[in-house]
Amino acid sequence: MHIQHNISLKPFNSFGIAVKANRFVILNNLDLLPEVFHENKTETLVLGGGSNILFTKDYNGLVIKNEISGIELLREDAENIYIKAGAGVVWHQFVLYCIQNNYAGVENLALIPGCVGASPIQNIGAYGVEIQQVLHEVEAYHKFDRAFVRLNNRDCAFGYRDSVFKRKYKNQLCITSVTYQLKKKPAFNISYGAIEKELEQMNVPELSIAAVAQAVINIRSSKLPDPAKIGNAGSFFKNPEVDHEQFEKLKTSFPNIVGFDLPGNKTKLAAGWLIEQCGWKGFRRGDAGCHKNQALVLVNFGNAGGDEILQLSNEIITSVQQKFEVQLEREVNII
Ligand code: FAD
Ligand code: EPU
Repeated sequence: MHIQHNISLKPFNSFGIAVKANRFVILNNLDLLPEVFHENKTETLVLGGGSNILFTKDYNGLVIKNEISGIELLREDAENIYIKAGAGVVWHQFVLYCIQNNYAGVENLALIPGCVGASPIQNIGAYGVEIQQVLHEVEAYHKFDRAFVRLNNRDCAFGYRDSVFKRKYKNQLCITSVTYQLKKKPAFNISYGAIEKELEQMNVPELSIAAVAQAVINIRSSKLPDPAKIGNAGSFFKNPEVDHEQFEKLKTSFPNIVGFDLPGNKTKLAAGWLIEQCGWKGFRRGDAGCHKNQALVLVNFGNAGGDEILQLSNEIITSVQQKFEVQLEREVNII
């Protein structure tokens, strides 16, 4: 095990925040796990692609960069195919592998940054699909029990950008692999208006997994800032849910408010719209800002500190609360 000291985390987080880790180790072998967690007495943080994290200060413990690799076909039946991927596999590479092999289920999740190991943590979702629809099993190492555990789909207690890994098991598990249950015959989900429109423009002769993925890639590339060019972690906040009664009340004061009906008397509000109405879209203070085309995405123009971005997010939360009486919740993990 090669522990490095005083390592800059700037290349390891998509916000590009220049903090340091007191200690840093690459985890690329399951045999290293006991040593990593038990011979080390400091605090630990497991890191994938660093695309859903905001560092606000130097990390005083051990950062474990999960690079456990490998994609393996476990078994198949008439309809399904079970693929196990190492936690360190880059998510989009996994999606490309599925497309190449014609395994259906993750095409709508193309181009989401980060690694396989983080996919269950916030139940990644985009364009009408969430990971919970294809997740079969998670394997993880329990830091304190010193043992491997397996969680099935139900054990993960998935919700919108939520799971057991953000609650009961927060900071207790190191996910080592995820097994996905994919379909041999695709059931296309193009209910998101933007996908249908994009497919029309692409003029594809026949709907395919690859075509849906390409449509999603085109939409995402046009809407979301590329972290390689401008630091960000995607949506900084979750889209808040309110009950129908509160939505109707909001509509009388704000007739253009954007909301989507959910089952069970709930409406999901577009947080981007709420933030834009408070005047934040395109806002910049120093190098911290709110993206000019997508108000839900906070950005680092270069050398912002994580504390500056956190401060901006607090001000946004307060102004949305004051104007709409709606509480925004952060999606990004603050460290
Ligand atoms: P990290 O940021 O490294 O980690 C996130 C959290 O998970 C941390 O708390 C970390 O400690 C923990 N963690 C990571 N790996 C492990 C592991 N193996 N074991 C235990 N804990 C672990 N998300 C969506 O859901 N939908 C989107 O459409 C989407 N679009 C995005 C677009 C952009 C441009 C960006 C920058 C981000 C976007 N995201 C989106 C957010 C992000 O890509 C996802 O949350 C992704 O799953 C994070 O993966 P990661 O490997 O980078 O996780
Ligand atoms: N909107 C505005 N102003 C803005 C931004 C958005 O008014 O500045 C309104 C628009 O009316 C738009 C609506 O918000 O119709 C929704 O916007 P968009 O379709 O861009 O989706 P989003 O709510 O911003 C969510 C996810 C994304 C995911 C996309 C596509 C959350 C928190 N975000 O974004 O996930 O990729 O839908 O499914 O649920 C992420 O989690 O990091 C992420 C990028």
